[in-house]
Amino acid sequence: MNTNTEKQRIFSGIQPSGNITLGNYLGALRHFPELQDDYECLYCIVDMHTLTVRQDPELLKERSYSLLSLYMACGLDPDRSILFVQSHVHQHAELSWILGCYTYMGELNRMTQFKDKSAKHADNINAGLYTYPVLMAADILLYQSRFVPIGNDQKQHLELARDIAIRFNKLYGETFTVPEPLISKQGARIMSLQEPDRKMSKSDTNSGNFVLVTEEPDSIMKKFKRAVTDSGSEVRFDPENKPGISNLLNIYATVKGITTEDAEKEFAGSRYGDFKMAVGSAVCDCLAPIREKYELLMSDRAQLDGILGRNAERAREIAEITKKDVYRRVGFIL
Ligand code: TYM
Repeated sequence: MNTNTEKQRIFSGIQPSGNITLGNYLGALRHFPELQDDYECLYCIVDMHTLTVRQDPELLKERSYSLLSLYMACGLDPDRSILFVQSHVHQHAELSWILGCYTYMGELNRMTQFKDKSAKHADNINAGLYTYPVLMAADILLYQSRFVPIGNDQKQHLELARDIAIRFNKLYGETFTVPEPLISKQGARIMSLQEPDRKMSKSDTNSGNFVLVTEEPDSIMKKFKRAVTDSGSEVRFDPENKPGISNLLNIYATVKGITTEDAEKEFAGSRYGDFKMAVGSAVCDCLAPIREKYELLMSDRAQLDGILGRNAERAREIAEITKKDVYRRVGFIL
């Protein structure tokens, strides 16, 4: 257990399985920097998780660098937070094996992401896709993480991580800190621009469905212009009957840091077309400074490699403490 003499820990991760979307940003990433002062933060590039779906090796490598650059462009400081790649820290795979032996098939069968992804990739329902949440539990528990900032879609996985921690602690004594999710009230579930009944996803094959954090303003504006609205003409927050408009109101409110009620008031009487353009430009204004910093960071590969090397070392040091404790408790010879 992390004996509270130090700051409590935060852990979160993003898969470098595609370019990072506005959904990832508003649901998770934008909260990462604000936690840096009060907690010891670890933000991971979870490359091992991406292999559950086929990846192009060169592209995966590029996207891992890209995610590190984006972490920093969003305000993460590699001297304050530990920014690292999952596969650089062998303890993730080691703990994952052990935790898998304390996770029931029935629990994994219930995971909605597994069901969704196996439907989407019916030709490749591999064992990794099934045990994905166990590796995620290992990511979190390895660092005795107290809080985990995530979007809504990862809530079920986090609950499983908690259950595994509690089960292990009961059997072997207090070993793991039981983590809690940090899910923001607004922005935790950004929907697709073309199909607002589905979440915005970086692995979507139709690029009209998502906006990338690093996308050019012209392209962002085009996507908002084409965003699906609903019947009627009123800009009103009503996710059930007006999913398209409600999603846009949610995006606008989150980007502006206001409530959806205030956003609704601001656009009372506006036409759909004007409203969509206002949302588009608010998003462009929010993302422009990030894109500029990102381009600069991406151009210095040696610096990125240096950061990854140093940070992996820091992560391994912390991870080894938990791993050794777990090995000792289960009866492995150390
Ligand atoms: P990933 O890579 O799919 O998404 C990264 C983060 O973005 C959030 N998110 C969204 N939030 C709002 N609206 C959306 N449309 C949207 N889409 C994604 C996700 O909830 C997530 O917080 N399994 C994780 C990665 C992971 C992880 C971990 C996270 C691996 N190990 C340990 C936390 C702790 C995933 O696939 O996220």
